[in-house]
Formats: sequence, C-alpha cells, structure tokens
Amino acid sequence: MKGIIFDLDGVIVSTDEQHYLGWQALADKLGIPFSREVNNRFRGVSRMACMDILEEIGDKCYTEQEKIAYATWKNDYYRSLLSELTPADLSEDVKSTLDALRAKGLKLAIGSSSKNTKFILERIGLADYFDAISDGTNISKSKPDPEVFLKAAEFLRLNPEECLVVEDATAGVDAAHAGGMKAVAVGDAAEKFYGDFILESFDELLKVV
Ligand code: G6P
Ligand code: MG
Repeated sequence: MKGIIFDLDGVIVSTDEQHYLGWQALADKLGIPFSREVNNRFRGVSRMACMDILEEIGDKCYTEQEKIAYATWKNDYYRSLLSELTPADLSEDVKSTLDALRAKGLKLAIGSSSKNTKFILERIGLADYFDAISDGTNISKSKPDPEVFLKAAEFLRLNPEECLVVEDATAGVDAAHAGGMKAVAVGDAAEKFYGDFILESFDELLKVV
C-alpha cells in the first residue's frame, strides 16, 4: 500500500451531521418525511442526486429549476452551519493518525463528492495538508461510481491497487471496489460491517496499513 484516500464528511470531520441537519430542514420546508436512516442513503452521493432521492421519498415531481433552487437552499443552510467549524473540530485521534501514516511514508489524499471540500479543509486547518484532493469539482459521476477515487489515485501518481480507501458511506465502499481498491469502513459503513476492514476507532487504521 502506497497511498490512502480519505472520504471527507463523516471520516476526517463530522460534517455529515451538518449535511443531515441541512436536508432535514429542507425536508421540513417541503413537507417530506425525513430521518437519520434516510439520510444514510445521502452519504457519498452528490448534492443533486440527493435532491432526486428526496423528491422520490416525498413522491413529488419538481422541475429541474425547482430542484436546483431547493439544493441551493440546502447548501446555503449547510454552509451557514459550517461557518462555525474551526480547527478544534478536527479530532486529535484523526490528526495524530494522519501524521503517523505520513511518517510511514504513505501518500495521503481526499476523495470526496463534495463541492465544499476545500472550504471545509480550510475551516479545520488542513487546506495544505493532503498530497492530492479529488472532490465534487473534478468529477461528473458521484459514488458509487469510482471516478472520484480513480482521479485521487491519478493525482497521487499511483495505481488504484496501490491505494486504500477510508469511507463512512456504503456507496463509497462500493465506489472503492468498483475502482479496484480495498475499503476501510468507519461510521455508518462500519456499523453495517460493510467494508474489507471495519474500524471501531480511527487510530486502528495504523494496524491495517
Ligand atoms: C459528500 C457527502 C454527501 C453530500 C456530497 C455532496 O459525499 O457524504 O452527503 O451530498 O458530499 O456535498 P456538497 O457539499 O457538494 O453538497
Ligand atoms: Mg462520508
């Protein structure tokens, strides 16, 4: 293993919670029933694809323009919550594990479907930390398509099979496998035992590589 590709929301930082609050607020506004369980389907999935799922759950039929307006409303709400994010939101466990992996000579990258990736990394003080960033701004297909991870491997100048993916989304684990990579599961994916390695705490990653 030469490189590790980390998902962002729910792996490096718990912004998956702010995503949930944003979608819950939009669902309330539109009169659509929503829950944390439904929100798990949104993990790793692009903003507009989440909007499509919300439309399906609510049995609604919105125009493309309406969907863009609602997704923008959710993103504005989400970004207002992110404005409270600070470097203190990066856990000591995550930071020390990243440093230890880097000390082992591994290359580290982000592989996230989010278009807010760079903003979040800046807020938590990791803007210049990773060797490569592949995110929602450089892909056309979101997880479970492997595009975001294949791009991350390419940016690291590594072959996919030389990279390990760390994910909290089942769609992200599927994306890693579709790209020929093994996946380490944390969070929701770990609770579902969905992945090649299941972590109970982030620092257990040091035992996997
Ligand atoms: C990540 C999150 C998803 C989110 C997607 C797009 O993959 O897990 O829940 O929908 O990013 O995020 P964005 O910040 O671009 O709306
Ligand atoms: Mg995630």
